Amino acid sequence: MDSELIQRISTIIEDACKAETNTFGYGIWSHHILPMISIAQELADRTNAAKKIVTLAVLLHDYAGIKDQELVEEHHIWGAKEAEIILANENLDEEKIEQVKKCILAHRGSVIIEKTTEEEKCVADADAIVHIDQLASLFYLVYGDRGMDVDEGRRWVKDKLTRDWEKMSENGRNMIKKKYDCIMELLEE
Ligand SMILES: [Fe+2]
Ligand SMILES: [Fe+2]
Repeated sequence: MDSELIQRISTIIEDACKAETNTFGYGIWSHHILPMISIAQELADRTNAAKKIVTLAVLLHDYAGIKDQELVEEHHIWGAKEAEIILANENLDEEKIEQVKKCILAHRGSVIIEKTTEEEKCVADADAIVHIDQLASLFYLVYGDRGMDVDEGRRWVKDKLTRDWEKMSENGRNMIKKKYDCIMELLEE
C-alpha cells in the first residue's frame, strides 16, 4: 500500500473534520472514519479485496457531508466527485479512482445501490460494523445529542443495529457476529 498517499489523504480528511463547519464534530474522524480503517482492512484480508482502494474509500466516503452540511443528503454522489478531484490530483490511475468512486457511491445503507465488487462490500460493511464496534458513540447520540429516555434510546440503538446487520454481507456478519449477538442480548427488554 502507498502509505504516503494514505497519509496525505488522511490529513485532508482529518483537517476537514477539525473545521468548525463540520457539523458532525471531530468524533466523525476519531470514532467513525479512523476505526473504520482497520475494520475495512480486516474485511479486505478475508476476501482479497484491494486494501489500498478500500482504505482510500473509507477515508473519503463521508467527506462531502463533512465539508458541507448541505451535501449530506446526497453525500455518496458528491463524495465520489470530491474523491475523483483529490485522487486525480495525486495522479492515481484512472482505474483505481473509478474503484474508489464506486465504493463511495455504494456505501450507504439507506440508499440501496448494488455492490458488485468486494471493495464496495468491505466499505459498506465497515460503515455498519463500526456502529457495533463503537457502541458508546451510538449511546452518546441517543442520550446526549437527542435526549431520549432510557427505553427509547435502547430501542433506537437496537433497531439501528438490526438494520445494519440486515444490510451486511456474509463476510461482514462473520467478522462481527459474536459482538453483535452479545449486544443484541443486552439490549433485549
Ligand atoms: Fe456515509
Ligand atoms: Fe460513514
